[in-house]
Amino acid sequence: MKILVTGTEGYIGCRLAPYLIARGHEVTGLDTGFYRDGWLYTQPSKMPVSPRTILKDLRNVAEGDFAGFDAVVHLAELSNDPLGENNPEVTFRINHEGSVRIAQMAKAAGVSRFIYASSCSAYGLGSGDFLSEQSPVHPQTAYAKCKVLVERDVGRLVDDRFCAVFLRNATAFGASPRMRFDIVLNDLCARAWTTREITMTSDGSPWRPLVHIEDICEAIYRALEAPVDAIRGEIFNVGQNSENYRIREIADIVAQVFEGCAVTAGPPGGDNRSYRVACDKIATRLPGFRCRWNARQGAEELRSVFERVGFDRTMYQFRAYTRLKQLKHLQQTGQVDADLFWRE
Ligand SMILES: NC(=O)c1ccc[n+]([C@@H]2O[C@H](COP(=O)([O-])OP(=O)(O)OC[C@H]3O[C@@H](n4cnc5c(N)ncnc54)[C@H](O)[C@@H]3O)[C@@H](O)[C@H]2O)c1
Repeated sequence: MKILVTGTEGYIGCRLAPYLIARGHEVTGLDTGFYRDGWLYTQPSKMPVSPRTILKDLRNVAEGDFAGFDAVVHLAELSNDPLGENNPEVTFRINHEGSVRIAQMAKAAGVSRFIYASSCSAYGLGSGDFLSEQSPVHPQTAYAKCKVLVERDVGRLVDDRFCAVFLRNATAFGASPRMRFDIVLNDLCARAWTTREITMTSDGSPWRPLVHIEDICEAIYRALEAPVDAIRGEIFNVGQNSENYRIREIADIVAQVFEGCAVTAGPPGGDNRSYRVACDKIATRLPGFRCRWNARQGAEELRSVFERVGFDRTMYQFRAYTRLKQLKHLQQTGQVDADLFWRE
């Protein structure tokens, strides 16, 4: 298949493109390059070929950008809750309007399959019960609200010629050359390695489902290969039931892998997002899919990357690995304007 992947310079996209290329697909990337400064490591064996990448803001794409592709995998957005809260208006422009426009143009250009990286953050606030794709959503942030709006609006475009599928990913973890430390497991591992302390930002009670980025790549790959009737218009939680943890359980796993580190709690109510998700549907209805990673293996993977690259506090603090820091830097240094368009 000829596939256009947006967000190929991001945390997930950077691992997805080689994953799809290694499985025989032809991949073209599209990215505006917000985090281009950050590259934690190189792993040639896992990067067969870098995709040709169109450097463009997704708000400026035209129908012609989609001509000749069989499928679009749409990852490029302002990704995560704090980033969305920083500037909700721009978040809606990019994540909601921009994403819907991409789907409209892809459809108009004759692309027949559209895979959208949604998020379990759409559930927002749960009672602790397992939430399925049929459960009501309670998005708490601009980022999560946009995910729900895109699912709704792109869902309306689905017909016999246009198969869209919505993958509600759990919170990702795992090593990527385009590393991110603003997600819980990666952050706790980096704190453990660099400070010997595992400091939670909440009291540790909120629930969070986790999924390794390679399992996200596998879900996308399987959604590209699945018969359209199995996935058309469907929502899938991406993860596995056993990978729902309270934050303090994640901290304990990190403490087992990074021995000799103290676990400390933050204030109660420091993070009100809490949800636990059921992943039975993807396990039974997305042909060929299964998760291969758990949180402990992810922490071990990170420890070995930290060892290999001589990871230290300076690297941990580097702006390009924390999305909000990097976007603020680009704005403060006048490289992008208030709407996050690059200045000429
Ligand atoms: N990482 C997670 O925990 C997680 C969980 C659930 C869902 N997701 C979703 O998966 C997708 C990818 O996530 P990620 O972690 O790789 O994010 P990321 O922030 O690491 O990468 C996103 C990429 O999109 C690009 N981008 C952002 N705005 C753009 C614009 N206006 N035009 C063109 N390119 C733009 C950025 O330059 C970046 O390279 C996102 O949609 C995210 O919401 C991520």
